[in-house]
Amino acid sequence: MRIAIGNDHAAVEMKEAVKAHLEKRGIQVTDMGTNTSESCDYPVYGEMVGRAVASGEADLGIVICGTGVGISMAANKVKGIRACVCSEPCTARLSRMHNDSNVLGFGARIIGIEMAKMITDAWLDAEYEGGRHQRRVDQLMEIENR
Ligand code: RB5
Repeated sequence: MRIAIGNDHAAVEMKEAVKAHLEKRGIQVTDMGTNTSESCDYPVYGEMVGRAVASGEADLGIVICGTGVGISMAANKVKGIRACVCSEPCTARLSRMHNDSNVLGFGARIIGIEMAKMITDAWLDAEYEGGRHQRRVDQLMEIENR
């Protein structure tokens, strides 16, 4: 499993903690930055993670900014990306099972590091169910072609 991770200046510490957690799980992590607290623009990193996932360079992506919102919006602009912002594990798990989410977002100014790890585990441990959800996921992706 390969995961691309990206963040803005608000989330460097949380990114490091999540990255270490992923590596402990045996996951190969590609860190797309930023790695300093110098102010930067979250769309740059959201797009980079989105492109890594959409191209197949990474299997899944994780994006983190202050709220998780801006960087997830940026990732969602990349064709093929289904990013969701989560503040608790239940939404993360269901986003995999029902929506086949391929990018997980969270806010470093909204949740703590332990919650971020729990959300990440819930997301990674869940599996897409397909079946009745596939029609809706297909409809979702068709919006990109209109
Ligand atoms: C940066 O100050 C902040 O706007 C950003 O991290 C994020 O919360 C945007 O959605």
